[in-house]
Amino acid sequence: MTTAGESPVGVAVVGAGSMGGQHVRAYQGAGAEVVAICDVDAARAEALAGSIGARAYTDVDSMLDEAHPAAVSICTPPAQHVAPALAAAECGVGLLIEKPLANALAPAREIADAVHRHGVVCMIGFCHRFHEPVLQIKERLEAGEIGRPVLFRNRFAYEFEGVENTWFSDPAVAGGGTLMDTSVHSLDLYRFLIGDIDRVAAELDTVTPGLSVEDNSVLLVNGPTRVPGIIEASWTTPAGDSELIIFGTEGNLGVDYGQGDFGVAFIETPQAGRRMLDRSGVNRFVTEIRHFLDAVRGGQDTRPNVDDGLRTLEAIDAAYLSVGQSRPSPSGSGINTNS
Ligand SMILES: NC(=O)c1ccc[n+]([C@@H]2O[C@H](COP(=O)([O-])OP(=O)(O)OC[C@H]3O[C@@H](n4cnc5c(N)ncnc54)[C@H](O)[C@@H]3O)[C@@H](O)[C@H]2O)c1
Repeated sequence: MTTAGESPVGVAVVGAGSMGGQHVRAYQGAGAEVVAICDVDAARAEALAGSIGARAYTDVDSMLDEAHPAAVSICTPPAQHVAPALAAAECGVGLLIEKPLANALAPAREIADAVHRHGVVCMIGFCHRFHEPVLQIKERLEAGEIGRPVLFRNRFAYEFEGVENTWFSDPAVAGGGTLMDTSVHSLDLYRFLIGDIDRVAAELDTVTPGLSVEDNSVLLVNGPTRVPGIIEASWTTPAGDSELIIFGTEGNLGVDYGQGDFGVAFIETPQAGRRMLDRSGVNRFVTEIRHFLDAVRGGQDTRPNVDDGLRTLEAIDAAYLSVGQSRPSPSGSGINTNS
């Protein structure tokens, strides 16, 4: 059921894997109708489409021609973002593209050029920007509750069993390892909470035998706001929590991702110690998709937009260059690599 100002929007999802399913549930949670599902794997497309009464396709062009969605979520692996994104932009369809924007800078720039040329709404799936604990700390940070921020630290780490058998560790598809998987979220969090990035240095290592991408990484970043950032990521550490913390001159704000449903925000001061903040439990993907649908209905650009997606990939590109790794596409992002 829609309310005033929430006219129904027919949407489609390309890529019927784990994030495709997540987007479908979030569209349903936001009251939108998913009219079509597209996947190169017909059985996957049919299974997801069948579960919601949508039409299944294996070809994006046919789906755009026949189903006429007003918006499309692109939930394919990163190397497969560019083709459906260009096709949908050409049809004037709003785009929600999962992170990272693409597997390399050149296709990411192609997508950005098409989005700007056709004037379509394009949001990137940096879902942490819509995560309640992150929004709680942003509000308190901006209200000056920890004084001046002086250090940013973010760790996303877990054990990715069997990663060697997935596209996540295929450099041609993912464009990298842990940096492209989770550090892309961390870099966006730095940009969302602290500011732009103009310096990046990396330390990368590979623990899993036979892997040709990094499975452990540390980034050092900084920008015009002069708040150094440390970004850690691992696919090989089963113990220990993921955490985001901003240290300030009067206290700290952060998110303990080991608590609650994917994290609880906290504030800590020398006087009161660490205090966890209450959550309503609103789902970040539903919040993200509501925000996207509002932008599509209003035809207005919204953040995180395609340029936010491009800026994070430029930082990742600079990180790989800082350790001498060649990149598949020309860089020239202007980010200092400290090398
Ligand atoms: N926002 C997040 O927190 C988050 C979490 C996980 C993954 N992701 C991102 O979501 C995207 C998808 O990841 P996933 O885990 O769902 O992958 P997945 O492997 O589970 O699903 C990908 C699906 O895309 C299909 N596909 C491949 N090429 C296609 C093409 N050309 N056209 C149509 N379908 C195609 C595959 O058959 C598969 O069903 C990636 O960009 C990934 O980085 C985001």
